[in-house]
Amino acid sequence: MDKRLSVLISPGNWDPKPWIIGLSASELIDEVHVWPTEANLDRVELLLVWQPLPEGVISKLPNLKFLSSMGAGVDHLLGDSQIPRDLPVMRIVDKFLAIDMTNYVLMSLMIYQRNYHQLVYNQKISNWDRIAYRKVKVGILGLGALGSHLANQLVNSGFEVYGFSRNPKKIEGVKTWSGTDLDTFLAQPEVLVNLLPLNDHTRDVLNYELFMKMQPGSYLINVARGGHLVEKDLIKALDEGLLKGATLDVFKQEPLPSDHPFWSRKDIIVTPHVASVTTPGSAINQVLENCANFLNNQPLAYLVDLERQY
Ligand code: NAP
Ligand code: GLV
Repeated sequence: MDKRLSVLISPGNWDPKPWIIGLSASELIDEVHVWPTEANLDRVELLLVWQPLPEGVISKLPNLKFLSSMGAGVDHLLGDSQIPRDLPVMRIVDKFLAIDMTNYVLMSLMIYQRNYHQLVYNQKISNWDRIAYRKVKVGILGLGALGSHLANQLVNSGFEVYGFSRNPKKIEGVKTWSGTDLDTFLAQPEVLVNLLPLNDHTRDVLNYELFMKMQPGSYLINVARGGHLVEKDLIKALDEGLLKGATLDVFKQEPLPSDHPFWSRKDIIVTPHVASVTTPGSAINQVLENCANFLNNQPLAYLVDLERQY
């Protein structure tokens, strides 16, 4: 193959080094630039971008052929008028993203199911209390690359699993609903895990009205995006006992401001958007697979449907 690609990385606050090293090592890649740069970007054909998409970057790339999110989510790209409508946009679909997400949710479920905070407190006061635990019913909103991996693993780990997606899905051992059956789904589990993409159809979906449809005293795990959650509705639902607690990894504003009420609540566990972070060494293989597709005039994979918004 004679032709090689010029790439621009706009990594946001992520470390670009592993991406530069990994991409530069490939025979498919000619040069790797990192935004911001004064270099001439006229030859750049691929833009890799983590949040946010910098203002003005696309106008510097007259030869841009395709664009990829450096993570699973593409909400930072949706509706951005800088992106030409016909530009192919891809995202990362990677086994380590799925494994890490599943492990994070499992950890959260274990802390909840085993009443771990109480066990730790009991050690402090030398209290030998063999707290009983029960089987937990878990509902997963969104059965895509991450949600379906999670569903399978939770079944293997002995949880009773329910799932909801836009289109009907079959996953062994999981009772699933789709389309207009959201309310039936919501009535089943006592723990709800959100793994929806954030877009115009799903923004603010985790609101008081939805919490009312769940079993009283349920638990929420939001690992998708902060934009899914109406924060004041969560606080109201917790204060009223409608919900028992929540584990939140993602927030409307990140980093979560230091005076935000979530930090100090005993019934909320806050983690700093670490549930599942792209593993560059693995994700780069997917990007290179698409570079090869592009250079060989083959269809690109892992494309986002910009009309559907995920
Ligand atoms: P995905 O493969 O695109 O899956 C999305 C799932 O949501 C699909 O099952 C889809 O249904 C369903 N869905 C979409 N719109 C819906 C709607 N309006 N109503 C009901 N279901 C709907 O996405 P993914 O790779 O699993 O990732 C999910 C999200 O996780 C990402 O968008 C990102 O925001 C978040 N994430 C967070 C972290 C973190 O560290 N916290 C890490 C990675 C990803 P169909 O199957 O019918 O299409
Ligand atoms: C992380 O949040 C991702 O979307 O990959």
